[in-house]
Amino acid sequence: MRISVIGCGYLGAVHAAGMAELGHDVVGIDVDPAKVAALARAEAPFHEPGLTELLRANRARLLFTTDIAAARDARVHFIAVGTPQSADSDAADTRYVDAAVEALLPYLRPGHLVVGKSTVPVGTAERLAVSVASTGARLAWNPEFLREGRAVADTITPDRLVYGVAEGDAVSVAALDEVYESIVARQTPRIVTDLATAQLVKSAANAFLATKISFINAMAEIAEAVGADVVQLADALGHDARIGRAFLGAGLGFGGGCLPKDIRAFRARAGELGVPDALGFLADVDSINLRRRTRVADVLEQELGPLIGRRIAVLGLAFKPDSDDVRDSPALAVAAMLRDRGGDVVATDPVAIPTARARDPFITYRSNTDDALRDADAVVIATEWAQFRALDPVATGQMVANRLVVDARNVLDVDAWRSAGWIVRGLGRAHALRVEDPRAVQHEPEGAAEREPDHV
Ligand code: UDX
Repeated sequence: MRISVIGCGYLGAVHAAGMAELGHDVVGIDVDPAKVAALARAEAPFHEPGLTELLRANRARLLFTTDIAAARDARVHFIAVGTPQSADSDAADTRYVDAAVEALLPYLRPGHLVVGKSTVPVGTAERLAVSVASTGARLAWNPEFLREGRAVADTITPDRLVYGVAEGDAVSVAALDEVYESIVARQTPRIVTDLATAQLVKSAANAFLATKISFINAMAEIAEAVGADVVQLADALGHDARIGRAFLGAGLGFGGGCLPKDIRAFRARAGELGVPDALGFLADVDSINLRRRTRVADVLEQELGPLIGRRIAVLGLAFKPDSDDVRDSPALAVAAMLRDRGGDVVATDPVAIPTARARDPFITYRSNTDDALRDADAVVIATEWAQFRALDPVATGQMVANRLVVDARNVLDVDAWRSAGWIVRGLGRAHALRVEDPRAVQHEPEGAAEREPDHV
């Protein structure tokens, strides 16, 4: 089948390549010439594991262009443009979705299907369906649930398919089944519903995930107050099959291009719909999440006193590992906050320095982890990249001026780090409140290992 994908960002680029992988002829269309040029060379314009390989393997079935007229020959048109937060409110800005559909209208024919994938305020699809219908084409909503860093697998082997169609629209269902033939054939759960429910599924899924993370981070605040350990708490909760361990990772909280703006937009939409109380709790979810960032800066001040002139190595800038995305990144926010409190911040990330620098040029960036660590008064694990989790506490201890680490993602082997003479502060972790002070042994890692074998 011939398919167009309008918008080639984190969602659209992977979707275009994924549809080619499923055997379709795909044209990807974007207004950004640099992005299109990279994709046309079969190069991922952002860091997404497996995307470059997918683009290369399916080169013969992929075309990328800035010319919307290239959508003319496609029968199914996916809308995958962004819906950022509005400049002046929490609501989603749907102007790019509106513009994409508007630009597509001259090329739509009876028998064509426009498929919305962007996350939109519920009600957007119904509005767009009217203009699409004026061309004789149809509109369906087919939300995606892909996670950055795993976007390729999530696109080709999704855990479910959701088709939102107008009542009785079997033609659109059949067209979507044709697009996803191999996925449907694997008995992937497939929910056919109305347009409103399909749009809501996405907002609800992200609201639930954000709530789960903020729930465990609220427990971290309680744990900090009583000297309990939130990681063990999460483990114990997670064994309950009704709760599950996933998304109970306490730490610096959620960021990225989806969860933060989507919960704000969802709440704003509930207000517009006259049911503001229904999603009032999402304001708390948001503030619990943002408080974790402040907590990291507070913990550092507890340990170091005023941060003015103190060198702080921030390890990680991306909002999560395996991504170069720094949109609403907790890690970048912490780096900026520490800088604003007077810290001499040196930040590093395996892939996200260019994107971070574009957003905040006033932080000192070092591409080499050792350079970032050198002479640091404190180290912050801000994004749980595998290479930061795997840091050797003894070798790392020889680079820094002071062995203090704030494990803001709760991923370090605390025993090993403490044995090497480090003060380890986590978020919501009992060890962060222990009265013993290993600073006394911080420059004697070998001896420390013998004297303090099991500190936590
Ligand atoms: C999310 C949804 O998971 C995906 O279904 C949707 O399509 C887009 O939004 P993504 O933004 O790629 O995907 O990242 P995700 O893996 O969901 O993580 C979001 C944030 O939550 C990250 O900052 C991550 O570090 C944080 N997180 C995740 C936690 O703090 N704790 C956890 O236990 C899990």
